[in-house]
Amino acid sequence: MTAARTITFTLNGSPVTADVKPHHNLVELLQTQFGLTGARESCGQGLCGCCSVVVNGRAVSGCLYLASFVDGADVVTVESLDSAQKLSPVQEAFIEASAFQCGYCTPGFIMMVTQLLDEKPDPTDDEIKHYLTGNLCRCATYPEVMDAVKLAAKKRKAGATA
Ligand code: FES
Ligand code: FES
Repeated sequence: MTAARTITFTLNGSPVTADVKPHHNLVELLQTQFGLTGARESCGQGLCGCCSVVVNGRAVSGCLYLASFVDGADVVTVESLDSAQKLSPVQEAFIEASAFQCGYCTPGFIMMVTQLLDEKPDPTDDEIKHYLTGNLCRCATYPEVMDAVKLAAKKRKAGATA
């Protein structure tokens, strides 16, 4: 039986420790030891974006990212985006634009759209498509996702100037 190893890292702004085995991936770690189910495994091959987690400021596929690799890292999940019962502008925009059906892919999209707007507050259509090329939606809500990104950009700008 393979021994577990204790790691420490920052999870959504708080220091945490966890026991991980060499084969555990980041999604398993977040779900089983922290109850964070926003990043979820779908393809398990780094192709769909459902498992997106931000590690040290970069989005990674949690299904392919070994849990032990987050030792000492700064990890941010979709659960960090709302605060004090208030949704983030991106979360609000997805609801207002009806940018989901089953919702399975939605946390991954929301993480990537948040990153996109952090990097490019006013993206073009091509930039949106390019940035989200690794996020798949089996319910084919892509037109509504485009609307949501543009709405979120407006909301963030309005929030910044309010
Ligand atoms: S489940 Fe990780 S990219 Fe699809
Ligand atoms: S809303 Fe169902 S997979 Fe995207």
